[in-house]
Amino acid sequence: MTERIAELNKKFLQTPVEEVLKYFLTEFKGKIAFSTSLGAEDQVLTHMIAGIDTGVRIFTLDTGRMFPELYELIDRTCNTYKIEISTYFPGFEQLENMVNEKGINLFYDSIENRKLCCQIRKLEPLKRALEGLDIWICGLRSDQSVTRLNTKLLEWDEQNGLLKLNPLFNWTHDQVWEYIRTNQVPYNPLHDKGFLSISCQPCTREVKKGEDVRAGRWWWEQPESKECGLHKSPVYKNMKEEMRGE
Ligand code: ADX
Ligand code: SF4
Repeated sequence: MTERIAELNKKFLQTPVEEVLKYFLTEFKGKIAFSTSLGAEDQVLTHMIAGIDTGVRIFTLDTGRMFPELYELIDRTCNTYKIEISTYFPGFEQLENMVNEKGINLFYDSIENRKLCCQIRKLEPLKRALEGLDIWICGLRSDQSVTRLNTKLLEWDEQNGLLKLNPLFNWTHDQVWEYIRTNQVPYNPLHDKGFLSISCQPCTREVKKGEDVRAGRWWWEQPESKECGLHKSPVYKNMKEEMRGE
């Protein structure tokens, strides 16, 4: 599997993203889905995927703590592209237990609480959404943060046991926005108010000039802990351990 992944990464290194998508959507038809948070990168991918096949499975994880602007954008996107975006919610029993035991805003109290909240509101629903699939498509880019430096086009997703395709892995922030403007792709109006990377309302703030793209996510934490767990980065972990001499 590792060899096949390396081979495909090499084969598609210079290939335009639309062609890469066409290949994987055909090759894995019925066993592939696109996971969208309706962020800028995901909107680019939605535009491209809908141009290829409006029947591709697209899903979003609604944590229950999203910005109102997101819900409006889901509708606008579905209407623009004549597509369906299915929604996965957290399991209500787990959610009730967590909130009643630890409080509605538990994530501000500790990294442990924050990760528990992400686990229940994002990771568990993602597991259900990925059931039966061979590959999922994501909008990750390698220059988004230190935790994503090693992002490749195609990866093996160890924690979910399937392939992961990151078609925009080597795009820059500016490329994404140029594409959005040129193609009049619908996007979240919060981006115009300084929100670069958007997730749940209580864990996202505007980014100041010169700050990192993901500086507004869990802004009270250190950069290396700023992942909700949807995207694990073993290489970064190893790198840190080596630096500490472990
Ligand atoms: S996160 O791990 O910090 O939440 P980020 O917001 O950068 O990730 O998004 C990276 C990719 O993960 C997105 O392009 C999308 O494919 C997927 N993703 C993140 N959040 C969601 C969500 N709520 N629903 C569906 N997919 C998501
Ligand atoms: Fe919970 Fe914040 Fe994670 Fe959303 S981003 S799931 S509110 S900790």
